[in-house]
Amino acid sequence: MHKLLLLNGPNLNRLGAREPTHYGRTTLSDIETRLRERAGARGAELVAFQSHSESALIERIHAAAEEGVDAALFNPAAFTHTSVALRDALLAADLRFVEVHLSNIHAREPFRRHSYFSDIALGVISGFGALGYDLALDAALAHLESPPEGN
Ligand code: DQA
Repeated sequence: MHKLLLLNGPNLNRLGAREPTHYGRTTLSDIETRLRERAGARGAELVAFQSHSESALIERIHAAAEEGVDAALFNPAAFTHTSVALRDALLAADLRFVEVHLSNIHAREPFRRHSYFSDIALGVISGFGALGYDLALDAALAHLESPPEGN
């Protein structure tokens, strides 16, 4: 059974209320519940974690490696554009992940266009709102079930 970690960074606990024109009306708890069910229906297990703290996210990534998590679905939120430490944590833990953004980070302010994660992610899903998490789950499981050559 594949184990997945749904990891969300700062301010994403406010989904549903936070800037709905960018992030939609779906709450984080709706997303977590839906993803757990979607993973379960595919015979996988999903655990969810959200934090505003870079340190807590780093510790969760390290723990994931110990727990045998196969892949993460990760929305680093504002840390996307700032955090070498989180990038290094993913590399140190050797944790595969799909990078997710609700908004299209390339269609917003210039500072959002750079991500410290995209080049080390399995892939990036950005701009499809909460649906992006479902797409990321499907992509991660497809990858685990039959990894492309060279990955
Ligand atoms: C975000 C995009 C980031 O630029 C922003 O800081 C977020 C959310 C997204 O999901 O679209 O907090 O990661």
